[in-house]
Amino acid sequence: MPADRASRTAVLVCQGRAVAHGRLAVGRFDDPTALRLLRETERTPVMRARAVPTSKGLAARLDVELLGRQAEAMALRTVAVDDAVRAAGNPQLVIVGAGLDGRAWRMSELAQVDVFEVDHPASQHEKRSRAVALGPPVGRHHFVAADLDEVDLGAVLFAAGHDATGPTTWILEGVIPYLSEQAAATTLTAIAGRSAPGSTVVLTYQLESPRGRLGRLLARALLVLMGRGDPMANESRRSSWSRETVQALVAEAGFLLREDIGLVALAGELSVPDRHVHASRVAVSVSPGG
Ligand SMILES: C[S@@+](CC[C@H](N)C(=O)[O-])C[C@H]1O[C@@H](n2cnc3c(N)ncnc32)[C@H](O)[C@@H]1O
Repeated sequence: MPADRASRTAVLVCQGRAVAHGRLAVGRFDDPTALRLLRETERTPVMRARAVPTSKGLAARLDVELLGRQAEAMALRTVAVDDAVRAAGNPQLVIVGAGLDGRAWRMSELAQVDVFEVDHPASQHEKRSRAVALGPPVGRHHFVAADLDEVDLGAVLFAAGHDATGPTTWILEGVIPYLSEQAAATTLTAIAGRSAPGSTVVLTYQLESPRGRLGRLLARALLVLMGRGDPMANESRRSSWSRETVQALVAEAGFLLREDIGLVALAGELSVPDRHVHASRVAVSVSPGG
């Protein structure tokens, strides 16, 4: 990711949550922060996608289709990650590649938790200005700017006051495809180095499939045609993952894989359409001795 460009994929997934809020998995998924984290121009497509079935015109229909997909995937992914964070119940939460994640503002369970949001400096700079609209976070909150390609994650977290002797929940949501395999391994090793017994790593990933690749290409082409720009122009996918390689990634860092949830199963449980989540998974691992 170029040093001066904030993440556009972070905006896209935030738009998905804003579309899903109050419409999908109601009672299990709730993200009132998402719409407020968006700029005015980014809200327009969200409002069009939420206006189903009254949305009219080509642009509105494309918004319904493109953001509708994101909404289904984000509602399910968010529920899976939130459930894992609650189940772990640790006093520290580190959100790696936080983007426009609103958990520190929306999860009342984090009132007594130290939340560290780690992100690329350009993305975090923008998050800081957008988050003003949210008011204060629910608990103790720390912004940590770090380019994971360049910086030792362990050292920056130490400097920010993270306590390696107490258990931590780590979230890597929608992040590892944007890291090289080497940077992903280095990141997991740094996480392991600061994970006391009882720590939990929640990592989302997508299995590679021709259908997924085609869907992404089509979505990017449509966004360009609509004049919105390609969200992945400066943020290309740098690695692809399978169940086996994710298992190896966490095992080599010393974690024990506890569950590897397919979002399709959760879709059935939450009555959310599963059209676009066949490849999406959430792996939950724990540090030994916890
Ligand atoms: C798809 S967004 C996901 C954001 C957030 N986790 C979510 O699910 O809403 C990818 C995130 O990874 C971050 N990222 C990508 N490459 C990075 C790097 N080299 N160092 C730090 N963060 C990076 C981006 O800044 C962005 O916030």
